[in-house]
Amino acid sequence: MTPLLDAAEQLSREKLAALQLERLRATLRHAYENVGHYRLAFDRAGLRPEDCRSLADLARFPFTAKADLRDNYPFGMFAVDQSEVRRIHASSGTTGRPTVVGYTQRDLDTWADVVARSIRAAGGRPGHKVHVAYGYGLFTGGLGAHYGAERLGCTVIPASGGMTARQVQLIQDFRPEIIMVTPSYMLTLLDEFERQGVDPRTTSLQVGIFGAEPWTEEMRREIEERFAIDAVDIYGLSEVMGPGVAQECVETKDGLHIWEDHFYPEVVDPFTGEVLRDGAEGELVFTSLTKEAMPVIRYRTRDLTRLLPGTARVFRRMEKITGRSDDMVILRGVNLFPTQIEEIVLRTPGVAPHFQLRLTREGRMDALTVRAEARANATSAQRADAVRAIAAAVKDGVGVSVAVEVVDPETLERSVGKIKRIVDLRPH
Ligand code: DLL
Repeated sequence: MTPLLDAAEQLSREKLAALQLERLRATLRHAYENVGHYRLAFDRAGLRPEDCRSLADLARFPFTAKADLRDNYPFGMFAVDQSEVRRIHASSGTTGRPTVVGYTQRDLDTWADVVARSIRAAGGRPGHKVHVAYGYGLFTGGLGAHYGAERLGCTVIPASGGMTARQVQLIQDFRPEIIMVTPSYMLTLLDEFERQGVDPRTTSLQVGIFGAEPWTEEMRREIEERFAIDAVDIYGLSEVMGPGVAQECVETKDGLHIWEDHFYPEVVDPFTGEVLRDGAEGELVFTSLTKEAMPVIRYRTRDLTRLLPGTARVFRRMEKITGRSDDMVILRGVNLFPTQIEEIVLRTPGVAPHFQLRLTREGRMDALTVRAEARANATSAQRADAVRAIAAAVKDGVGVSVAVEVVDPETLERSVGKIKRIVDLRPH
């Protein structure tokens, strides 16, 4: 398939860098002049927006953290008059106040453009029907996908999350080519197709655009095989925009191209904050280059990845996210991410791609139990083998001992949106 490219996707690296610098300087000025938080933070660092003379100079500017957004709840980080704000989204977060983000009309246009570009990179074309099963509402997934698909010239089916039986019916009747949904909810849909006696390989779906949570190559293989579709990764976060900050191209499926004309990435050491060279793993940091309502300067995502050179596009890629520093479990000194367990569970015969991690405390030590679900036809001998295989693979691959339970089919809670892998039962 020949990819269709928009003007920015055809820039040379030099022209892109020049555009980025111009936009970066304008953003720093806009933030400094209109947001009290940035003015204070730059002043404290002894910096003026004009001190940014090259892209590398950005490293001298202070980071922005989620706590800064919370401290300025609800609208303190906005850089325009409230009458210019056309939409608000918010993420609930695990503790306390939600994180609030705002968009001007131009921001909404930019967002629709980058999501349209993402869907096209995934193989979507004008005229395709797009079933959007990301949640609609304050979460950016549903509306973000929706306006991007419309912008591309697709027909949108705004299903949102939940009512799983009906989703399957709609897919059968409306015959969409594309589905946009979290990978974990796609598995819930898979179960429902099978429950209704429909072979998931026979649907009209050709491409799934999956994101909003970490997922592995093993999960890609599972979904692609069971649905006979191409599965590609979409990344984004509310603070930076929503879905469509980066997108995997269907022709290469080799990590996500960051739409660098709007979002400038850095990868930093999560402990020292030092900027790492491309190729090194660390925490992803974003600076918005065109946002009006809520510019973000060096926003710390807590997502862990590496920056890689472009392949299918001129833009740099980010490797599929390993995990969030927040989701990292430290067990007897060993760092463990849910994605490492996902890789193992999905490779193990006899178990379904559903699992949960239970954290408990025994004395002073944290303990982890991997609960995976047996496949419907698994014998008790296969289940016992799976317990041993998972425990051994975690010990070998991650370097730590965990307990493993293989539970009955259809007993673990199913996802309707972003899945929560870790159930923390430790006393506070
Ligand atoms: O999840 C935006 C989104 C919606 C992205 C739909 C893709 C599709 P938030 O709710 O603010 O926004 O959560 C952002 O979700 O920092 C990552 O930790 C995680 N995340 C998002 N996409 C991916 C992905 C949306 N493709 C947080 N892979 C981010 C891994 C992802 N993690």
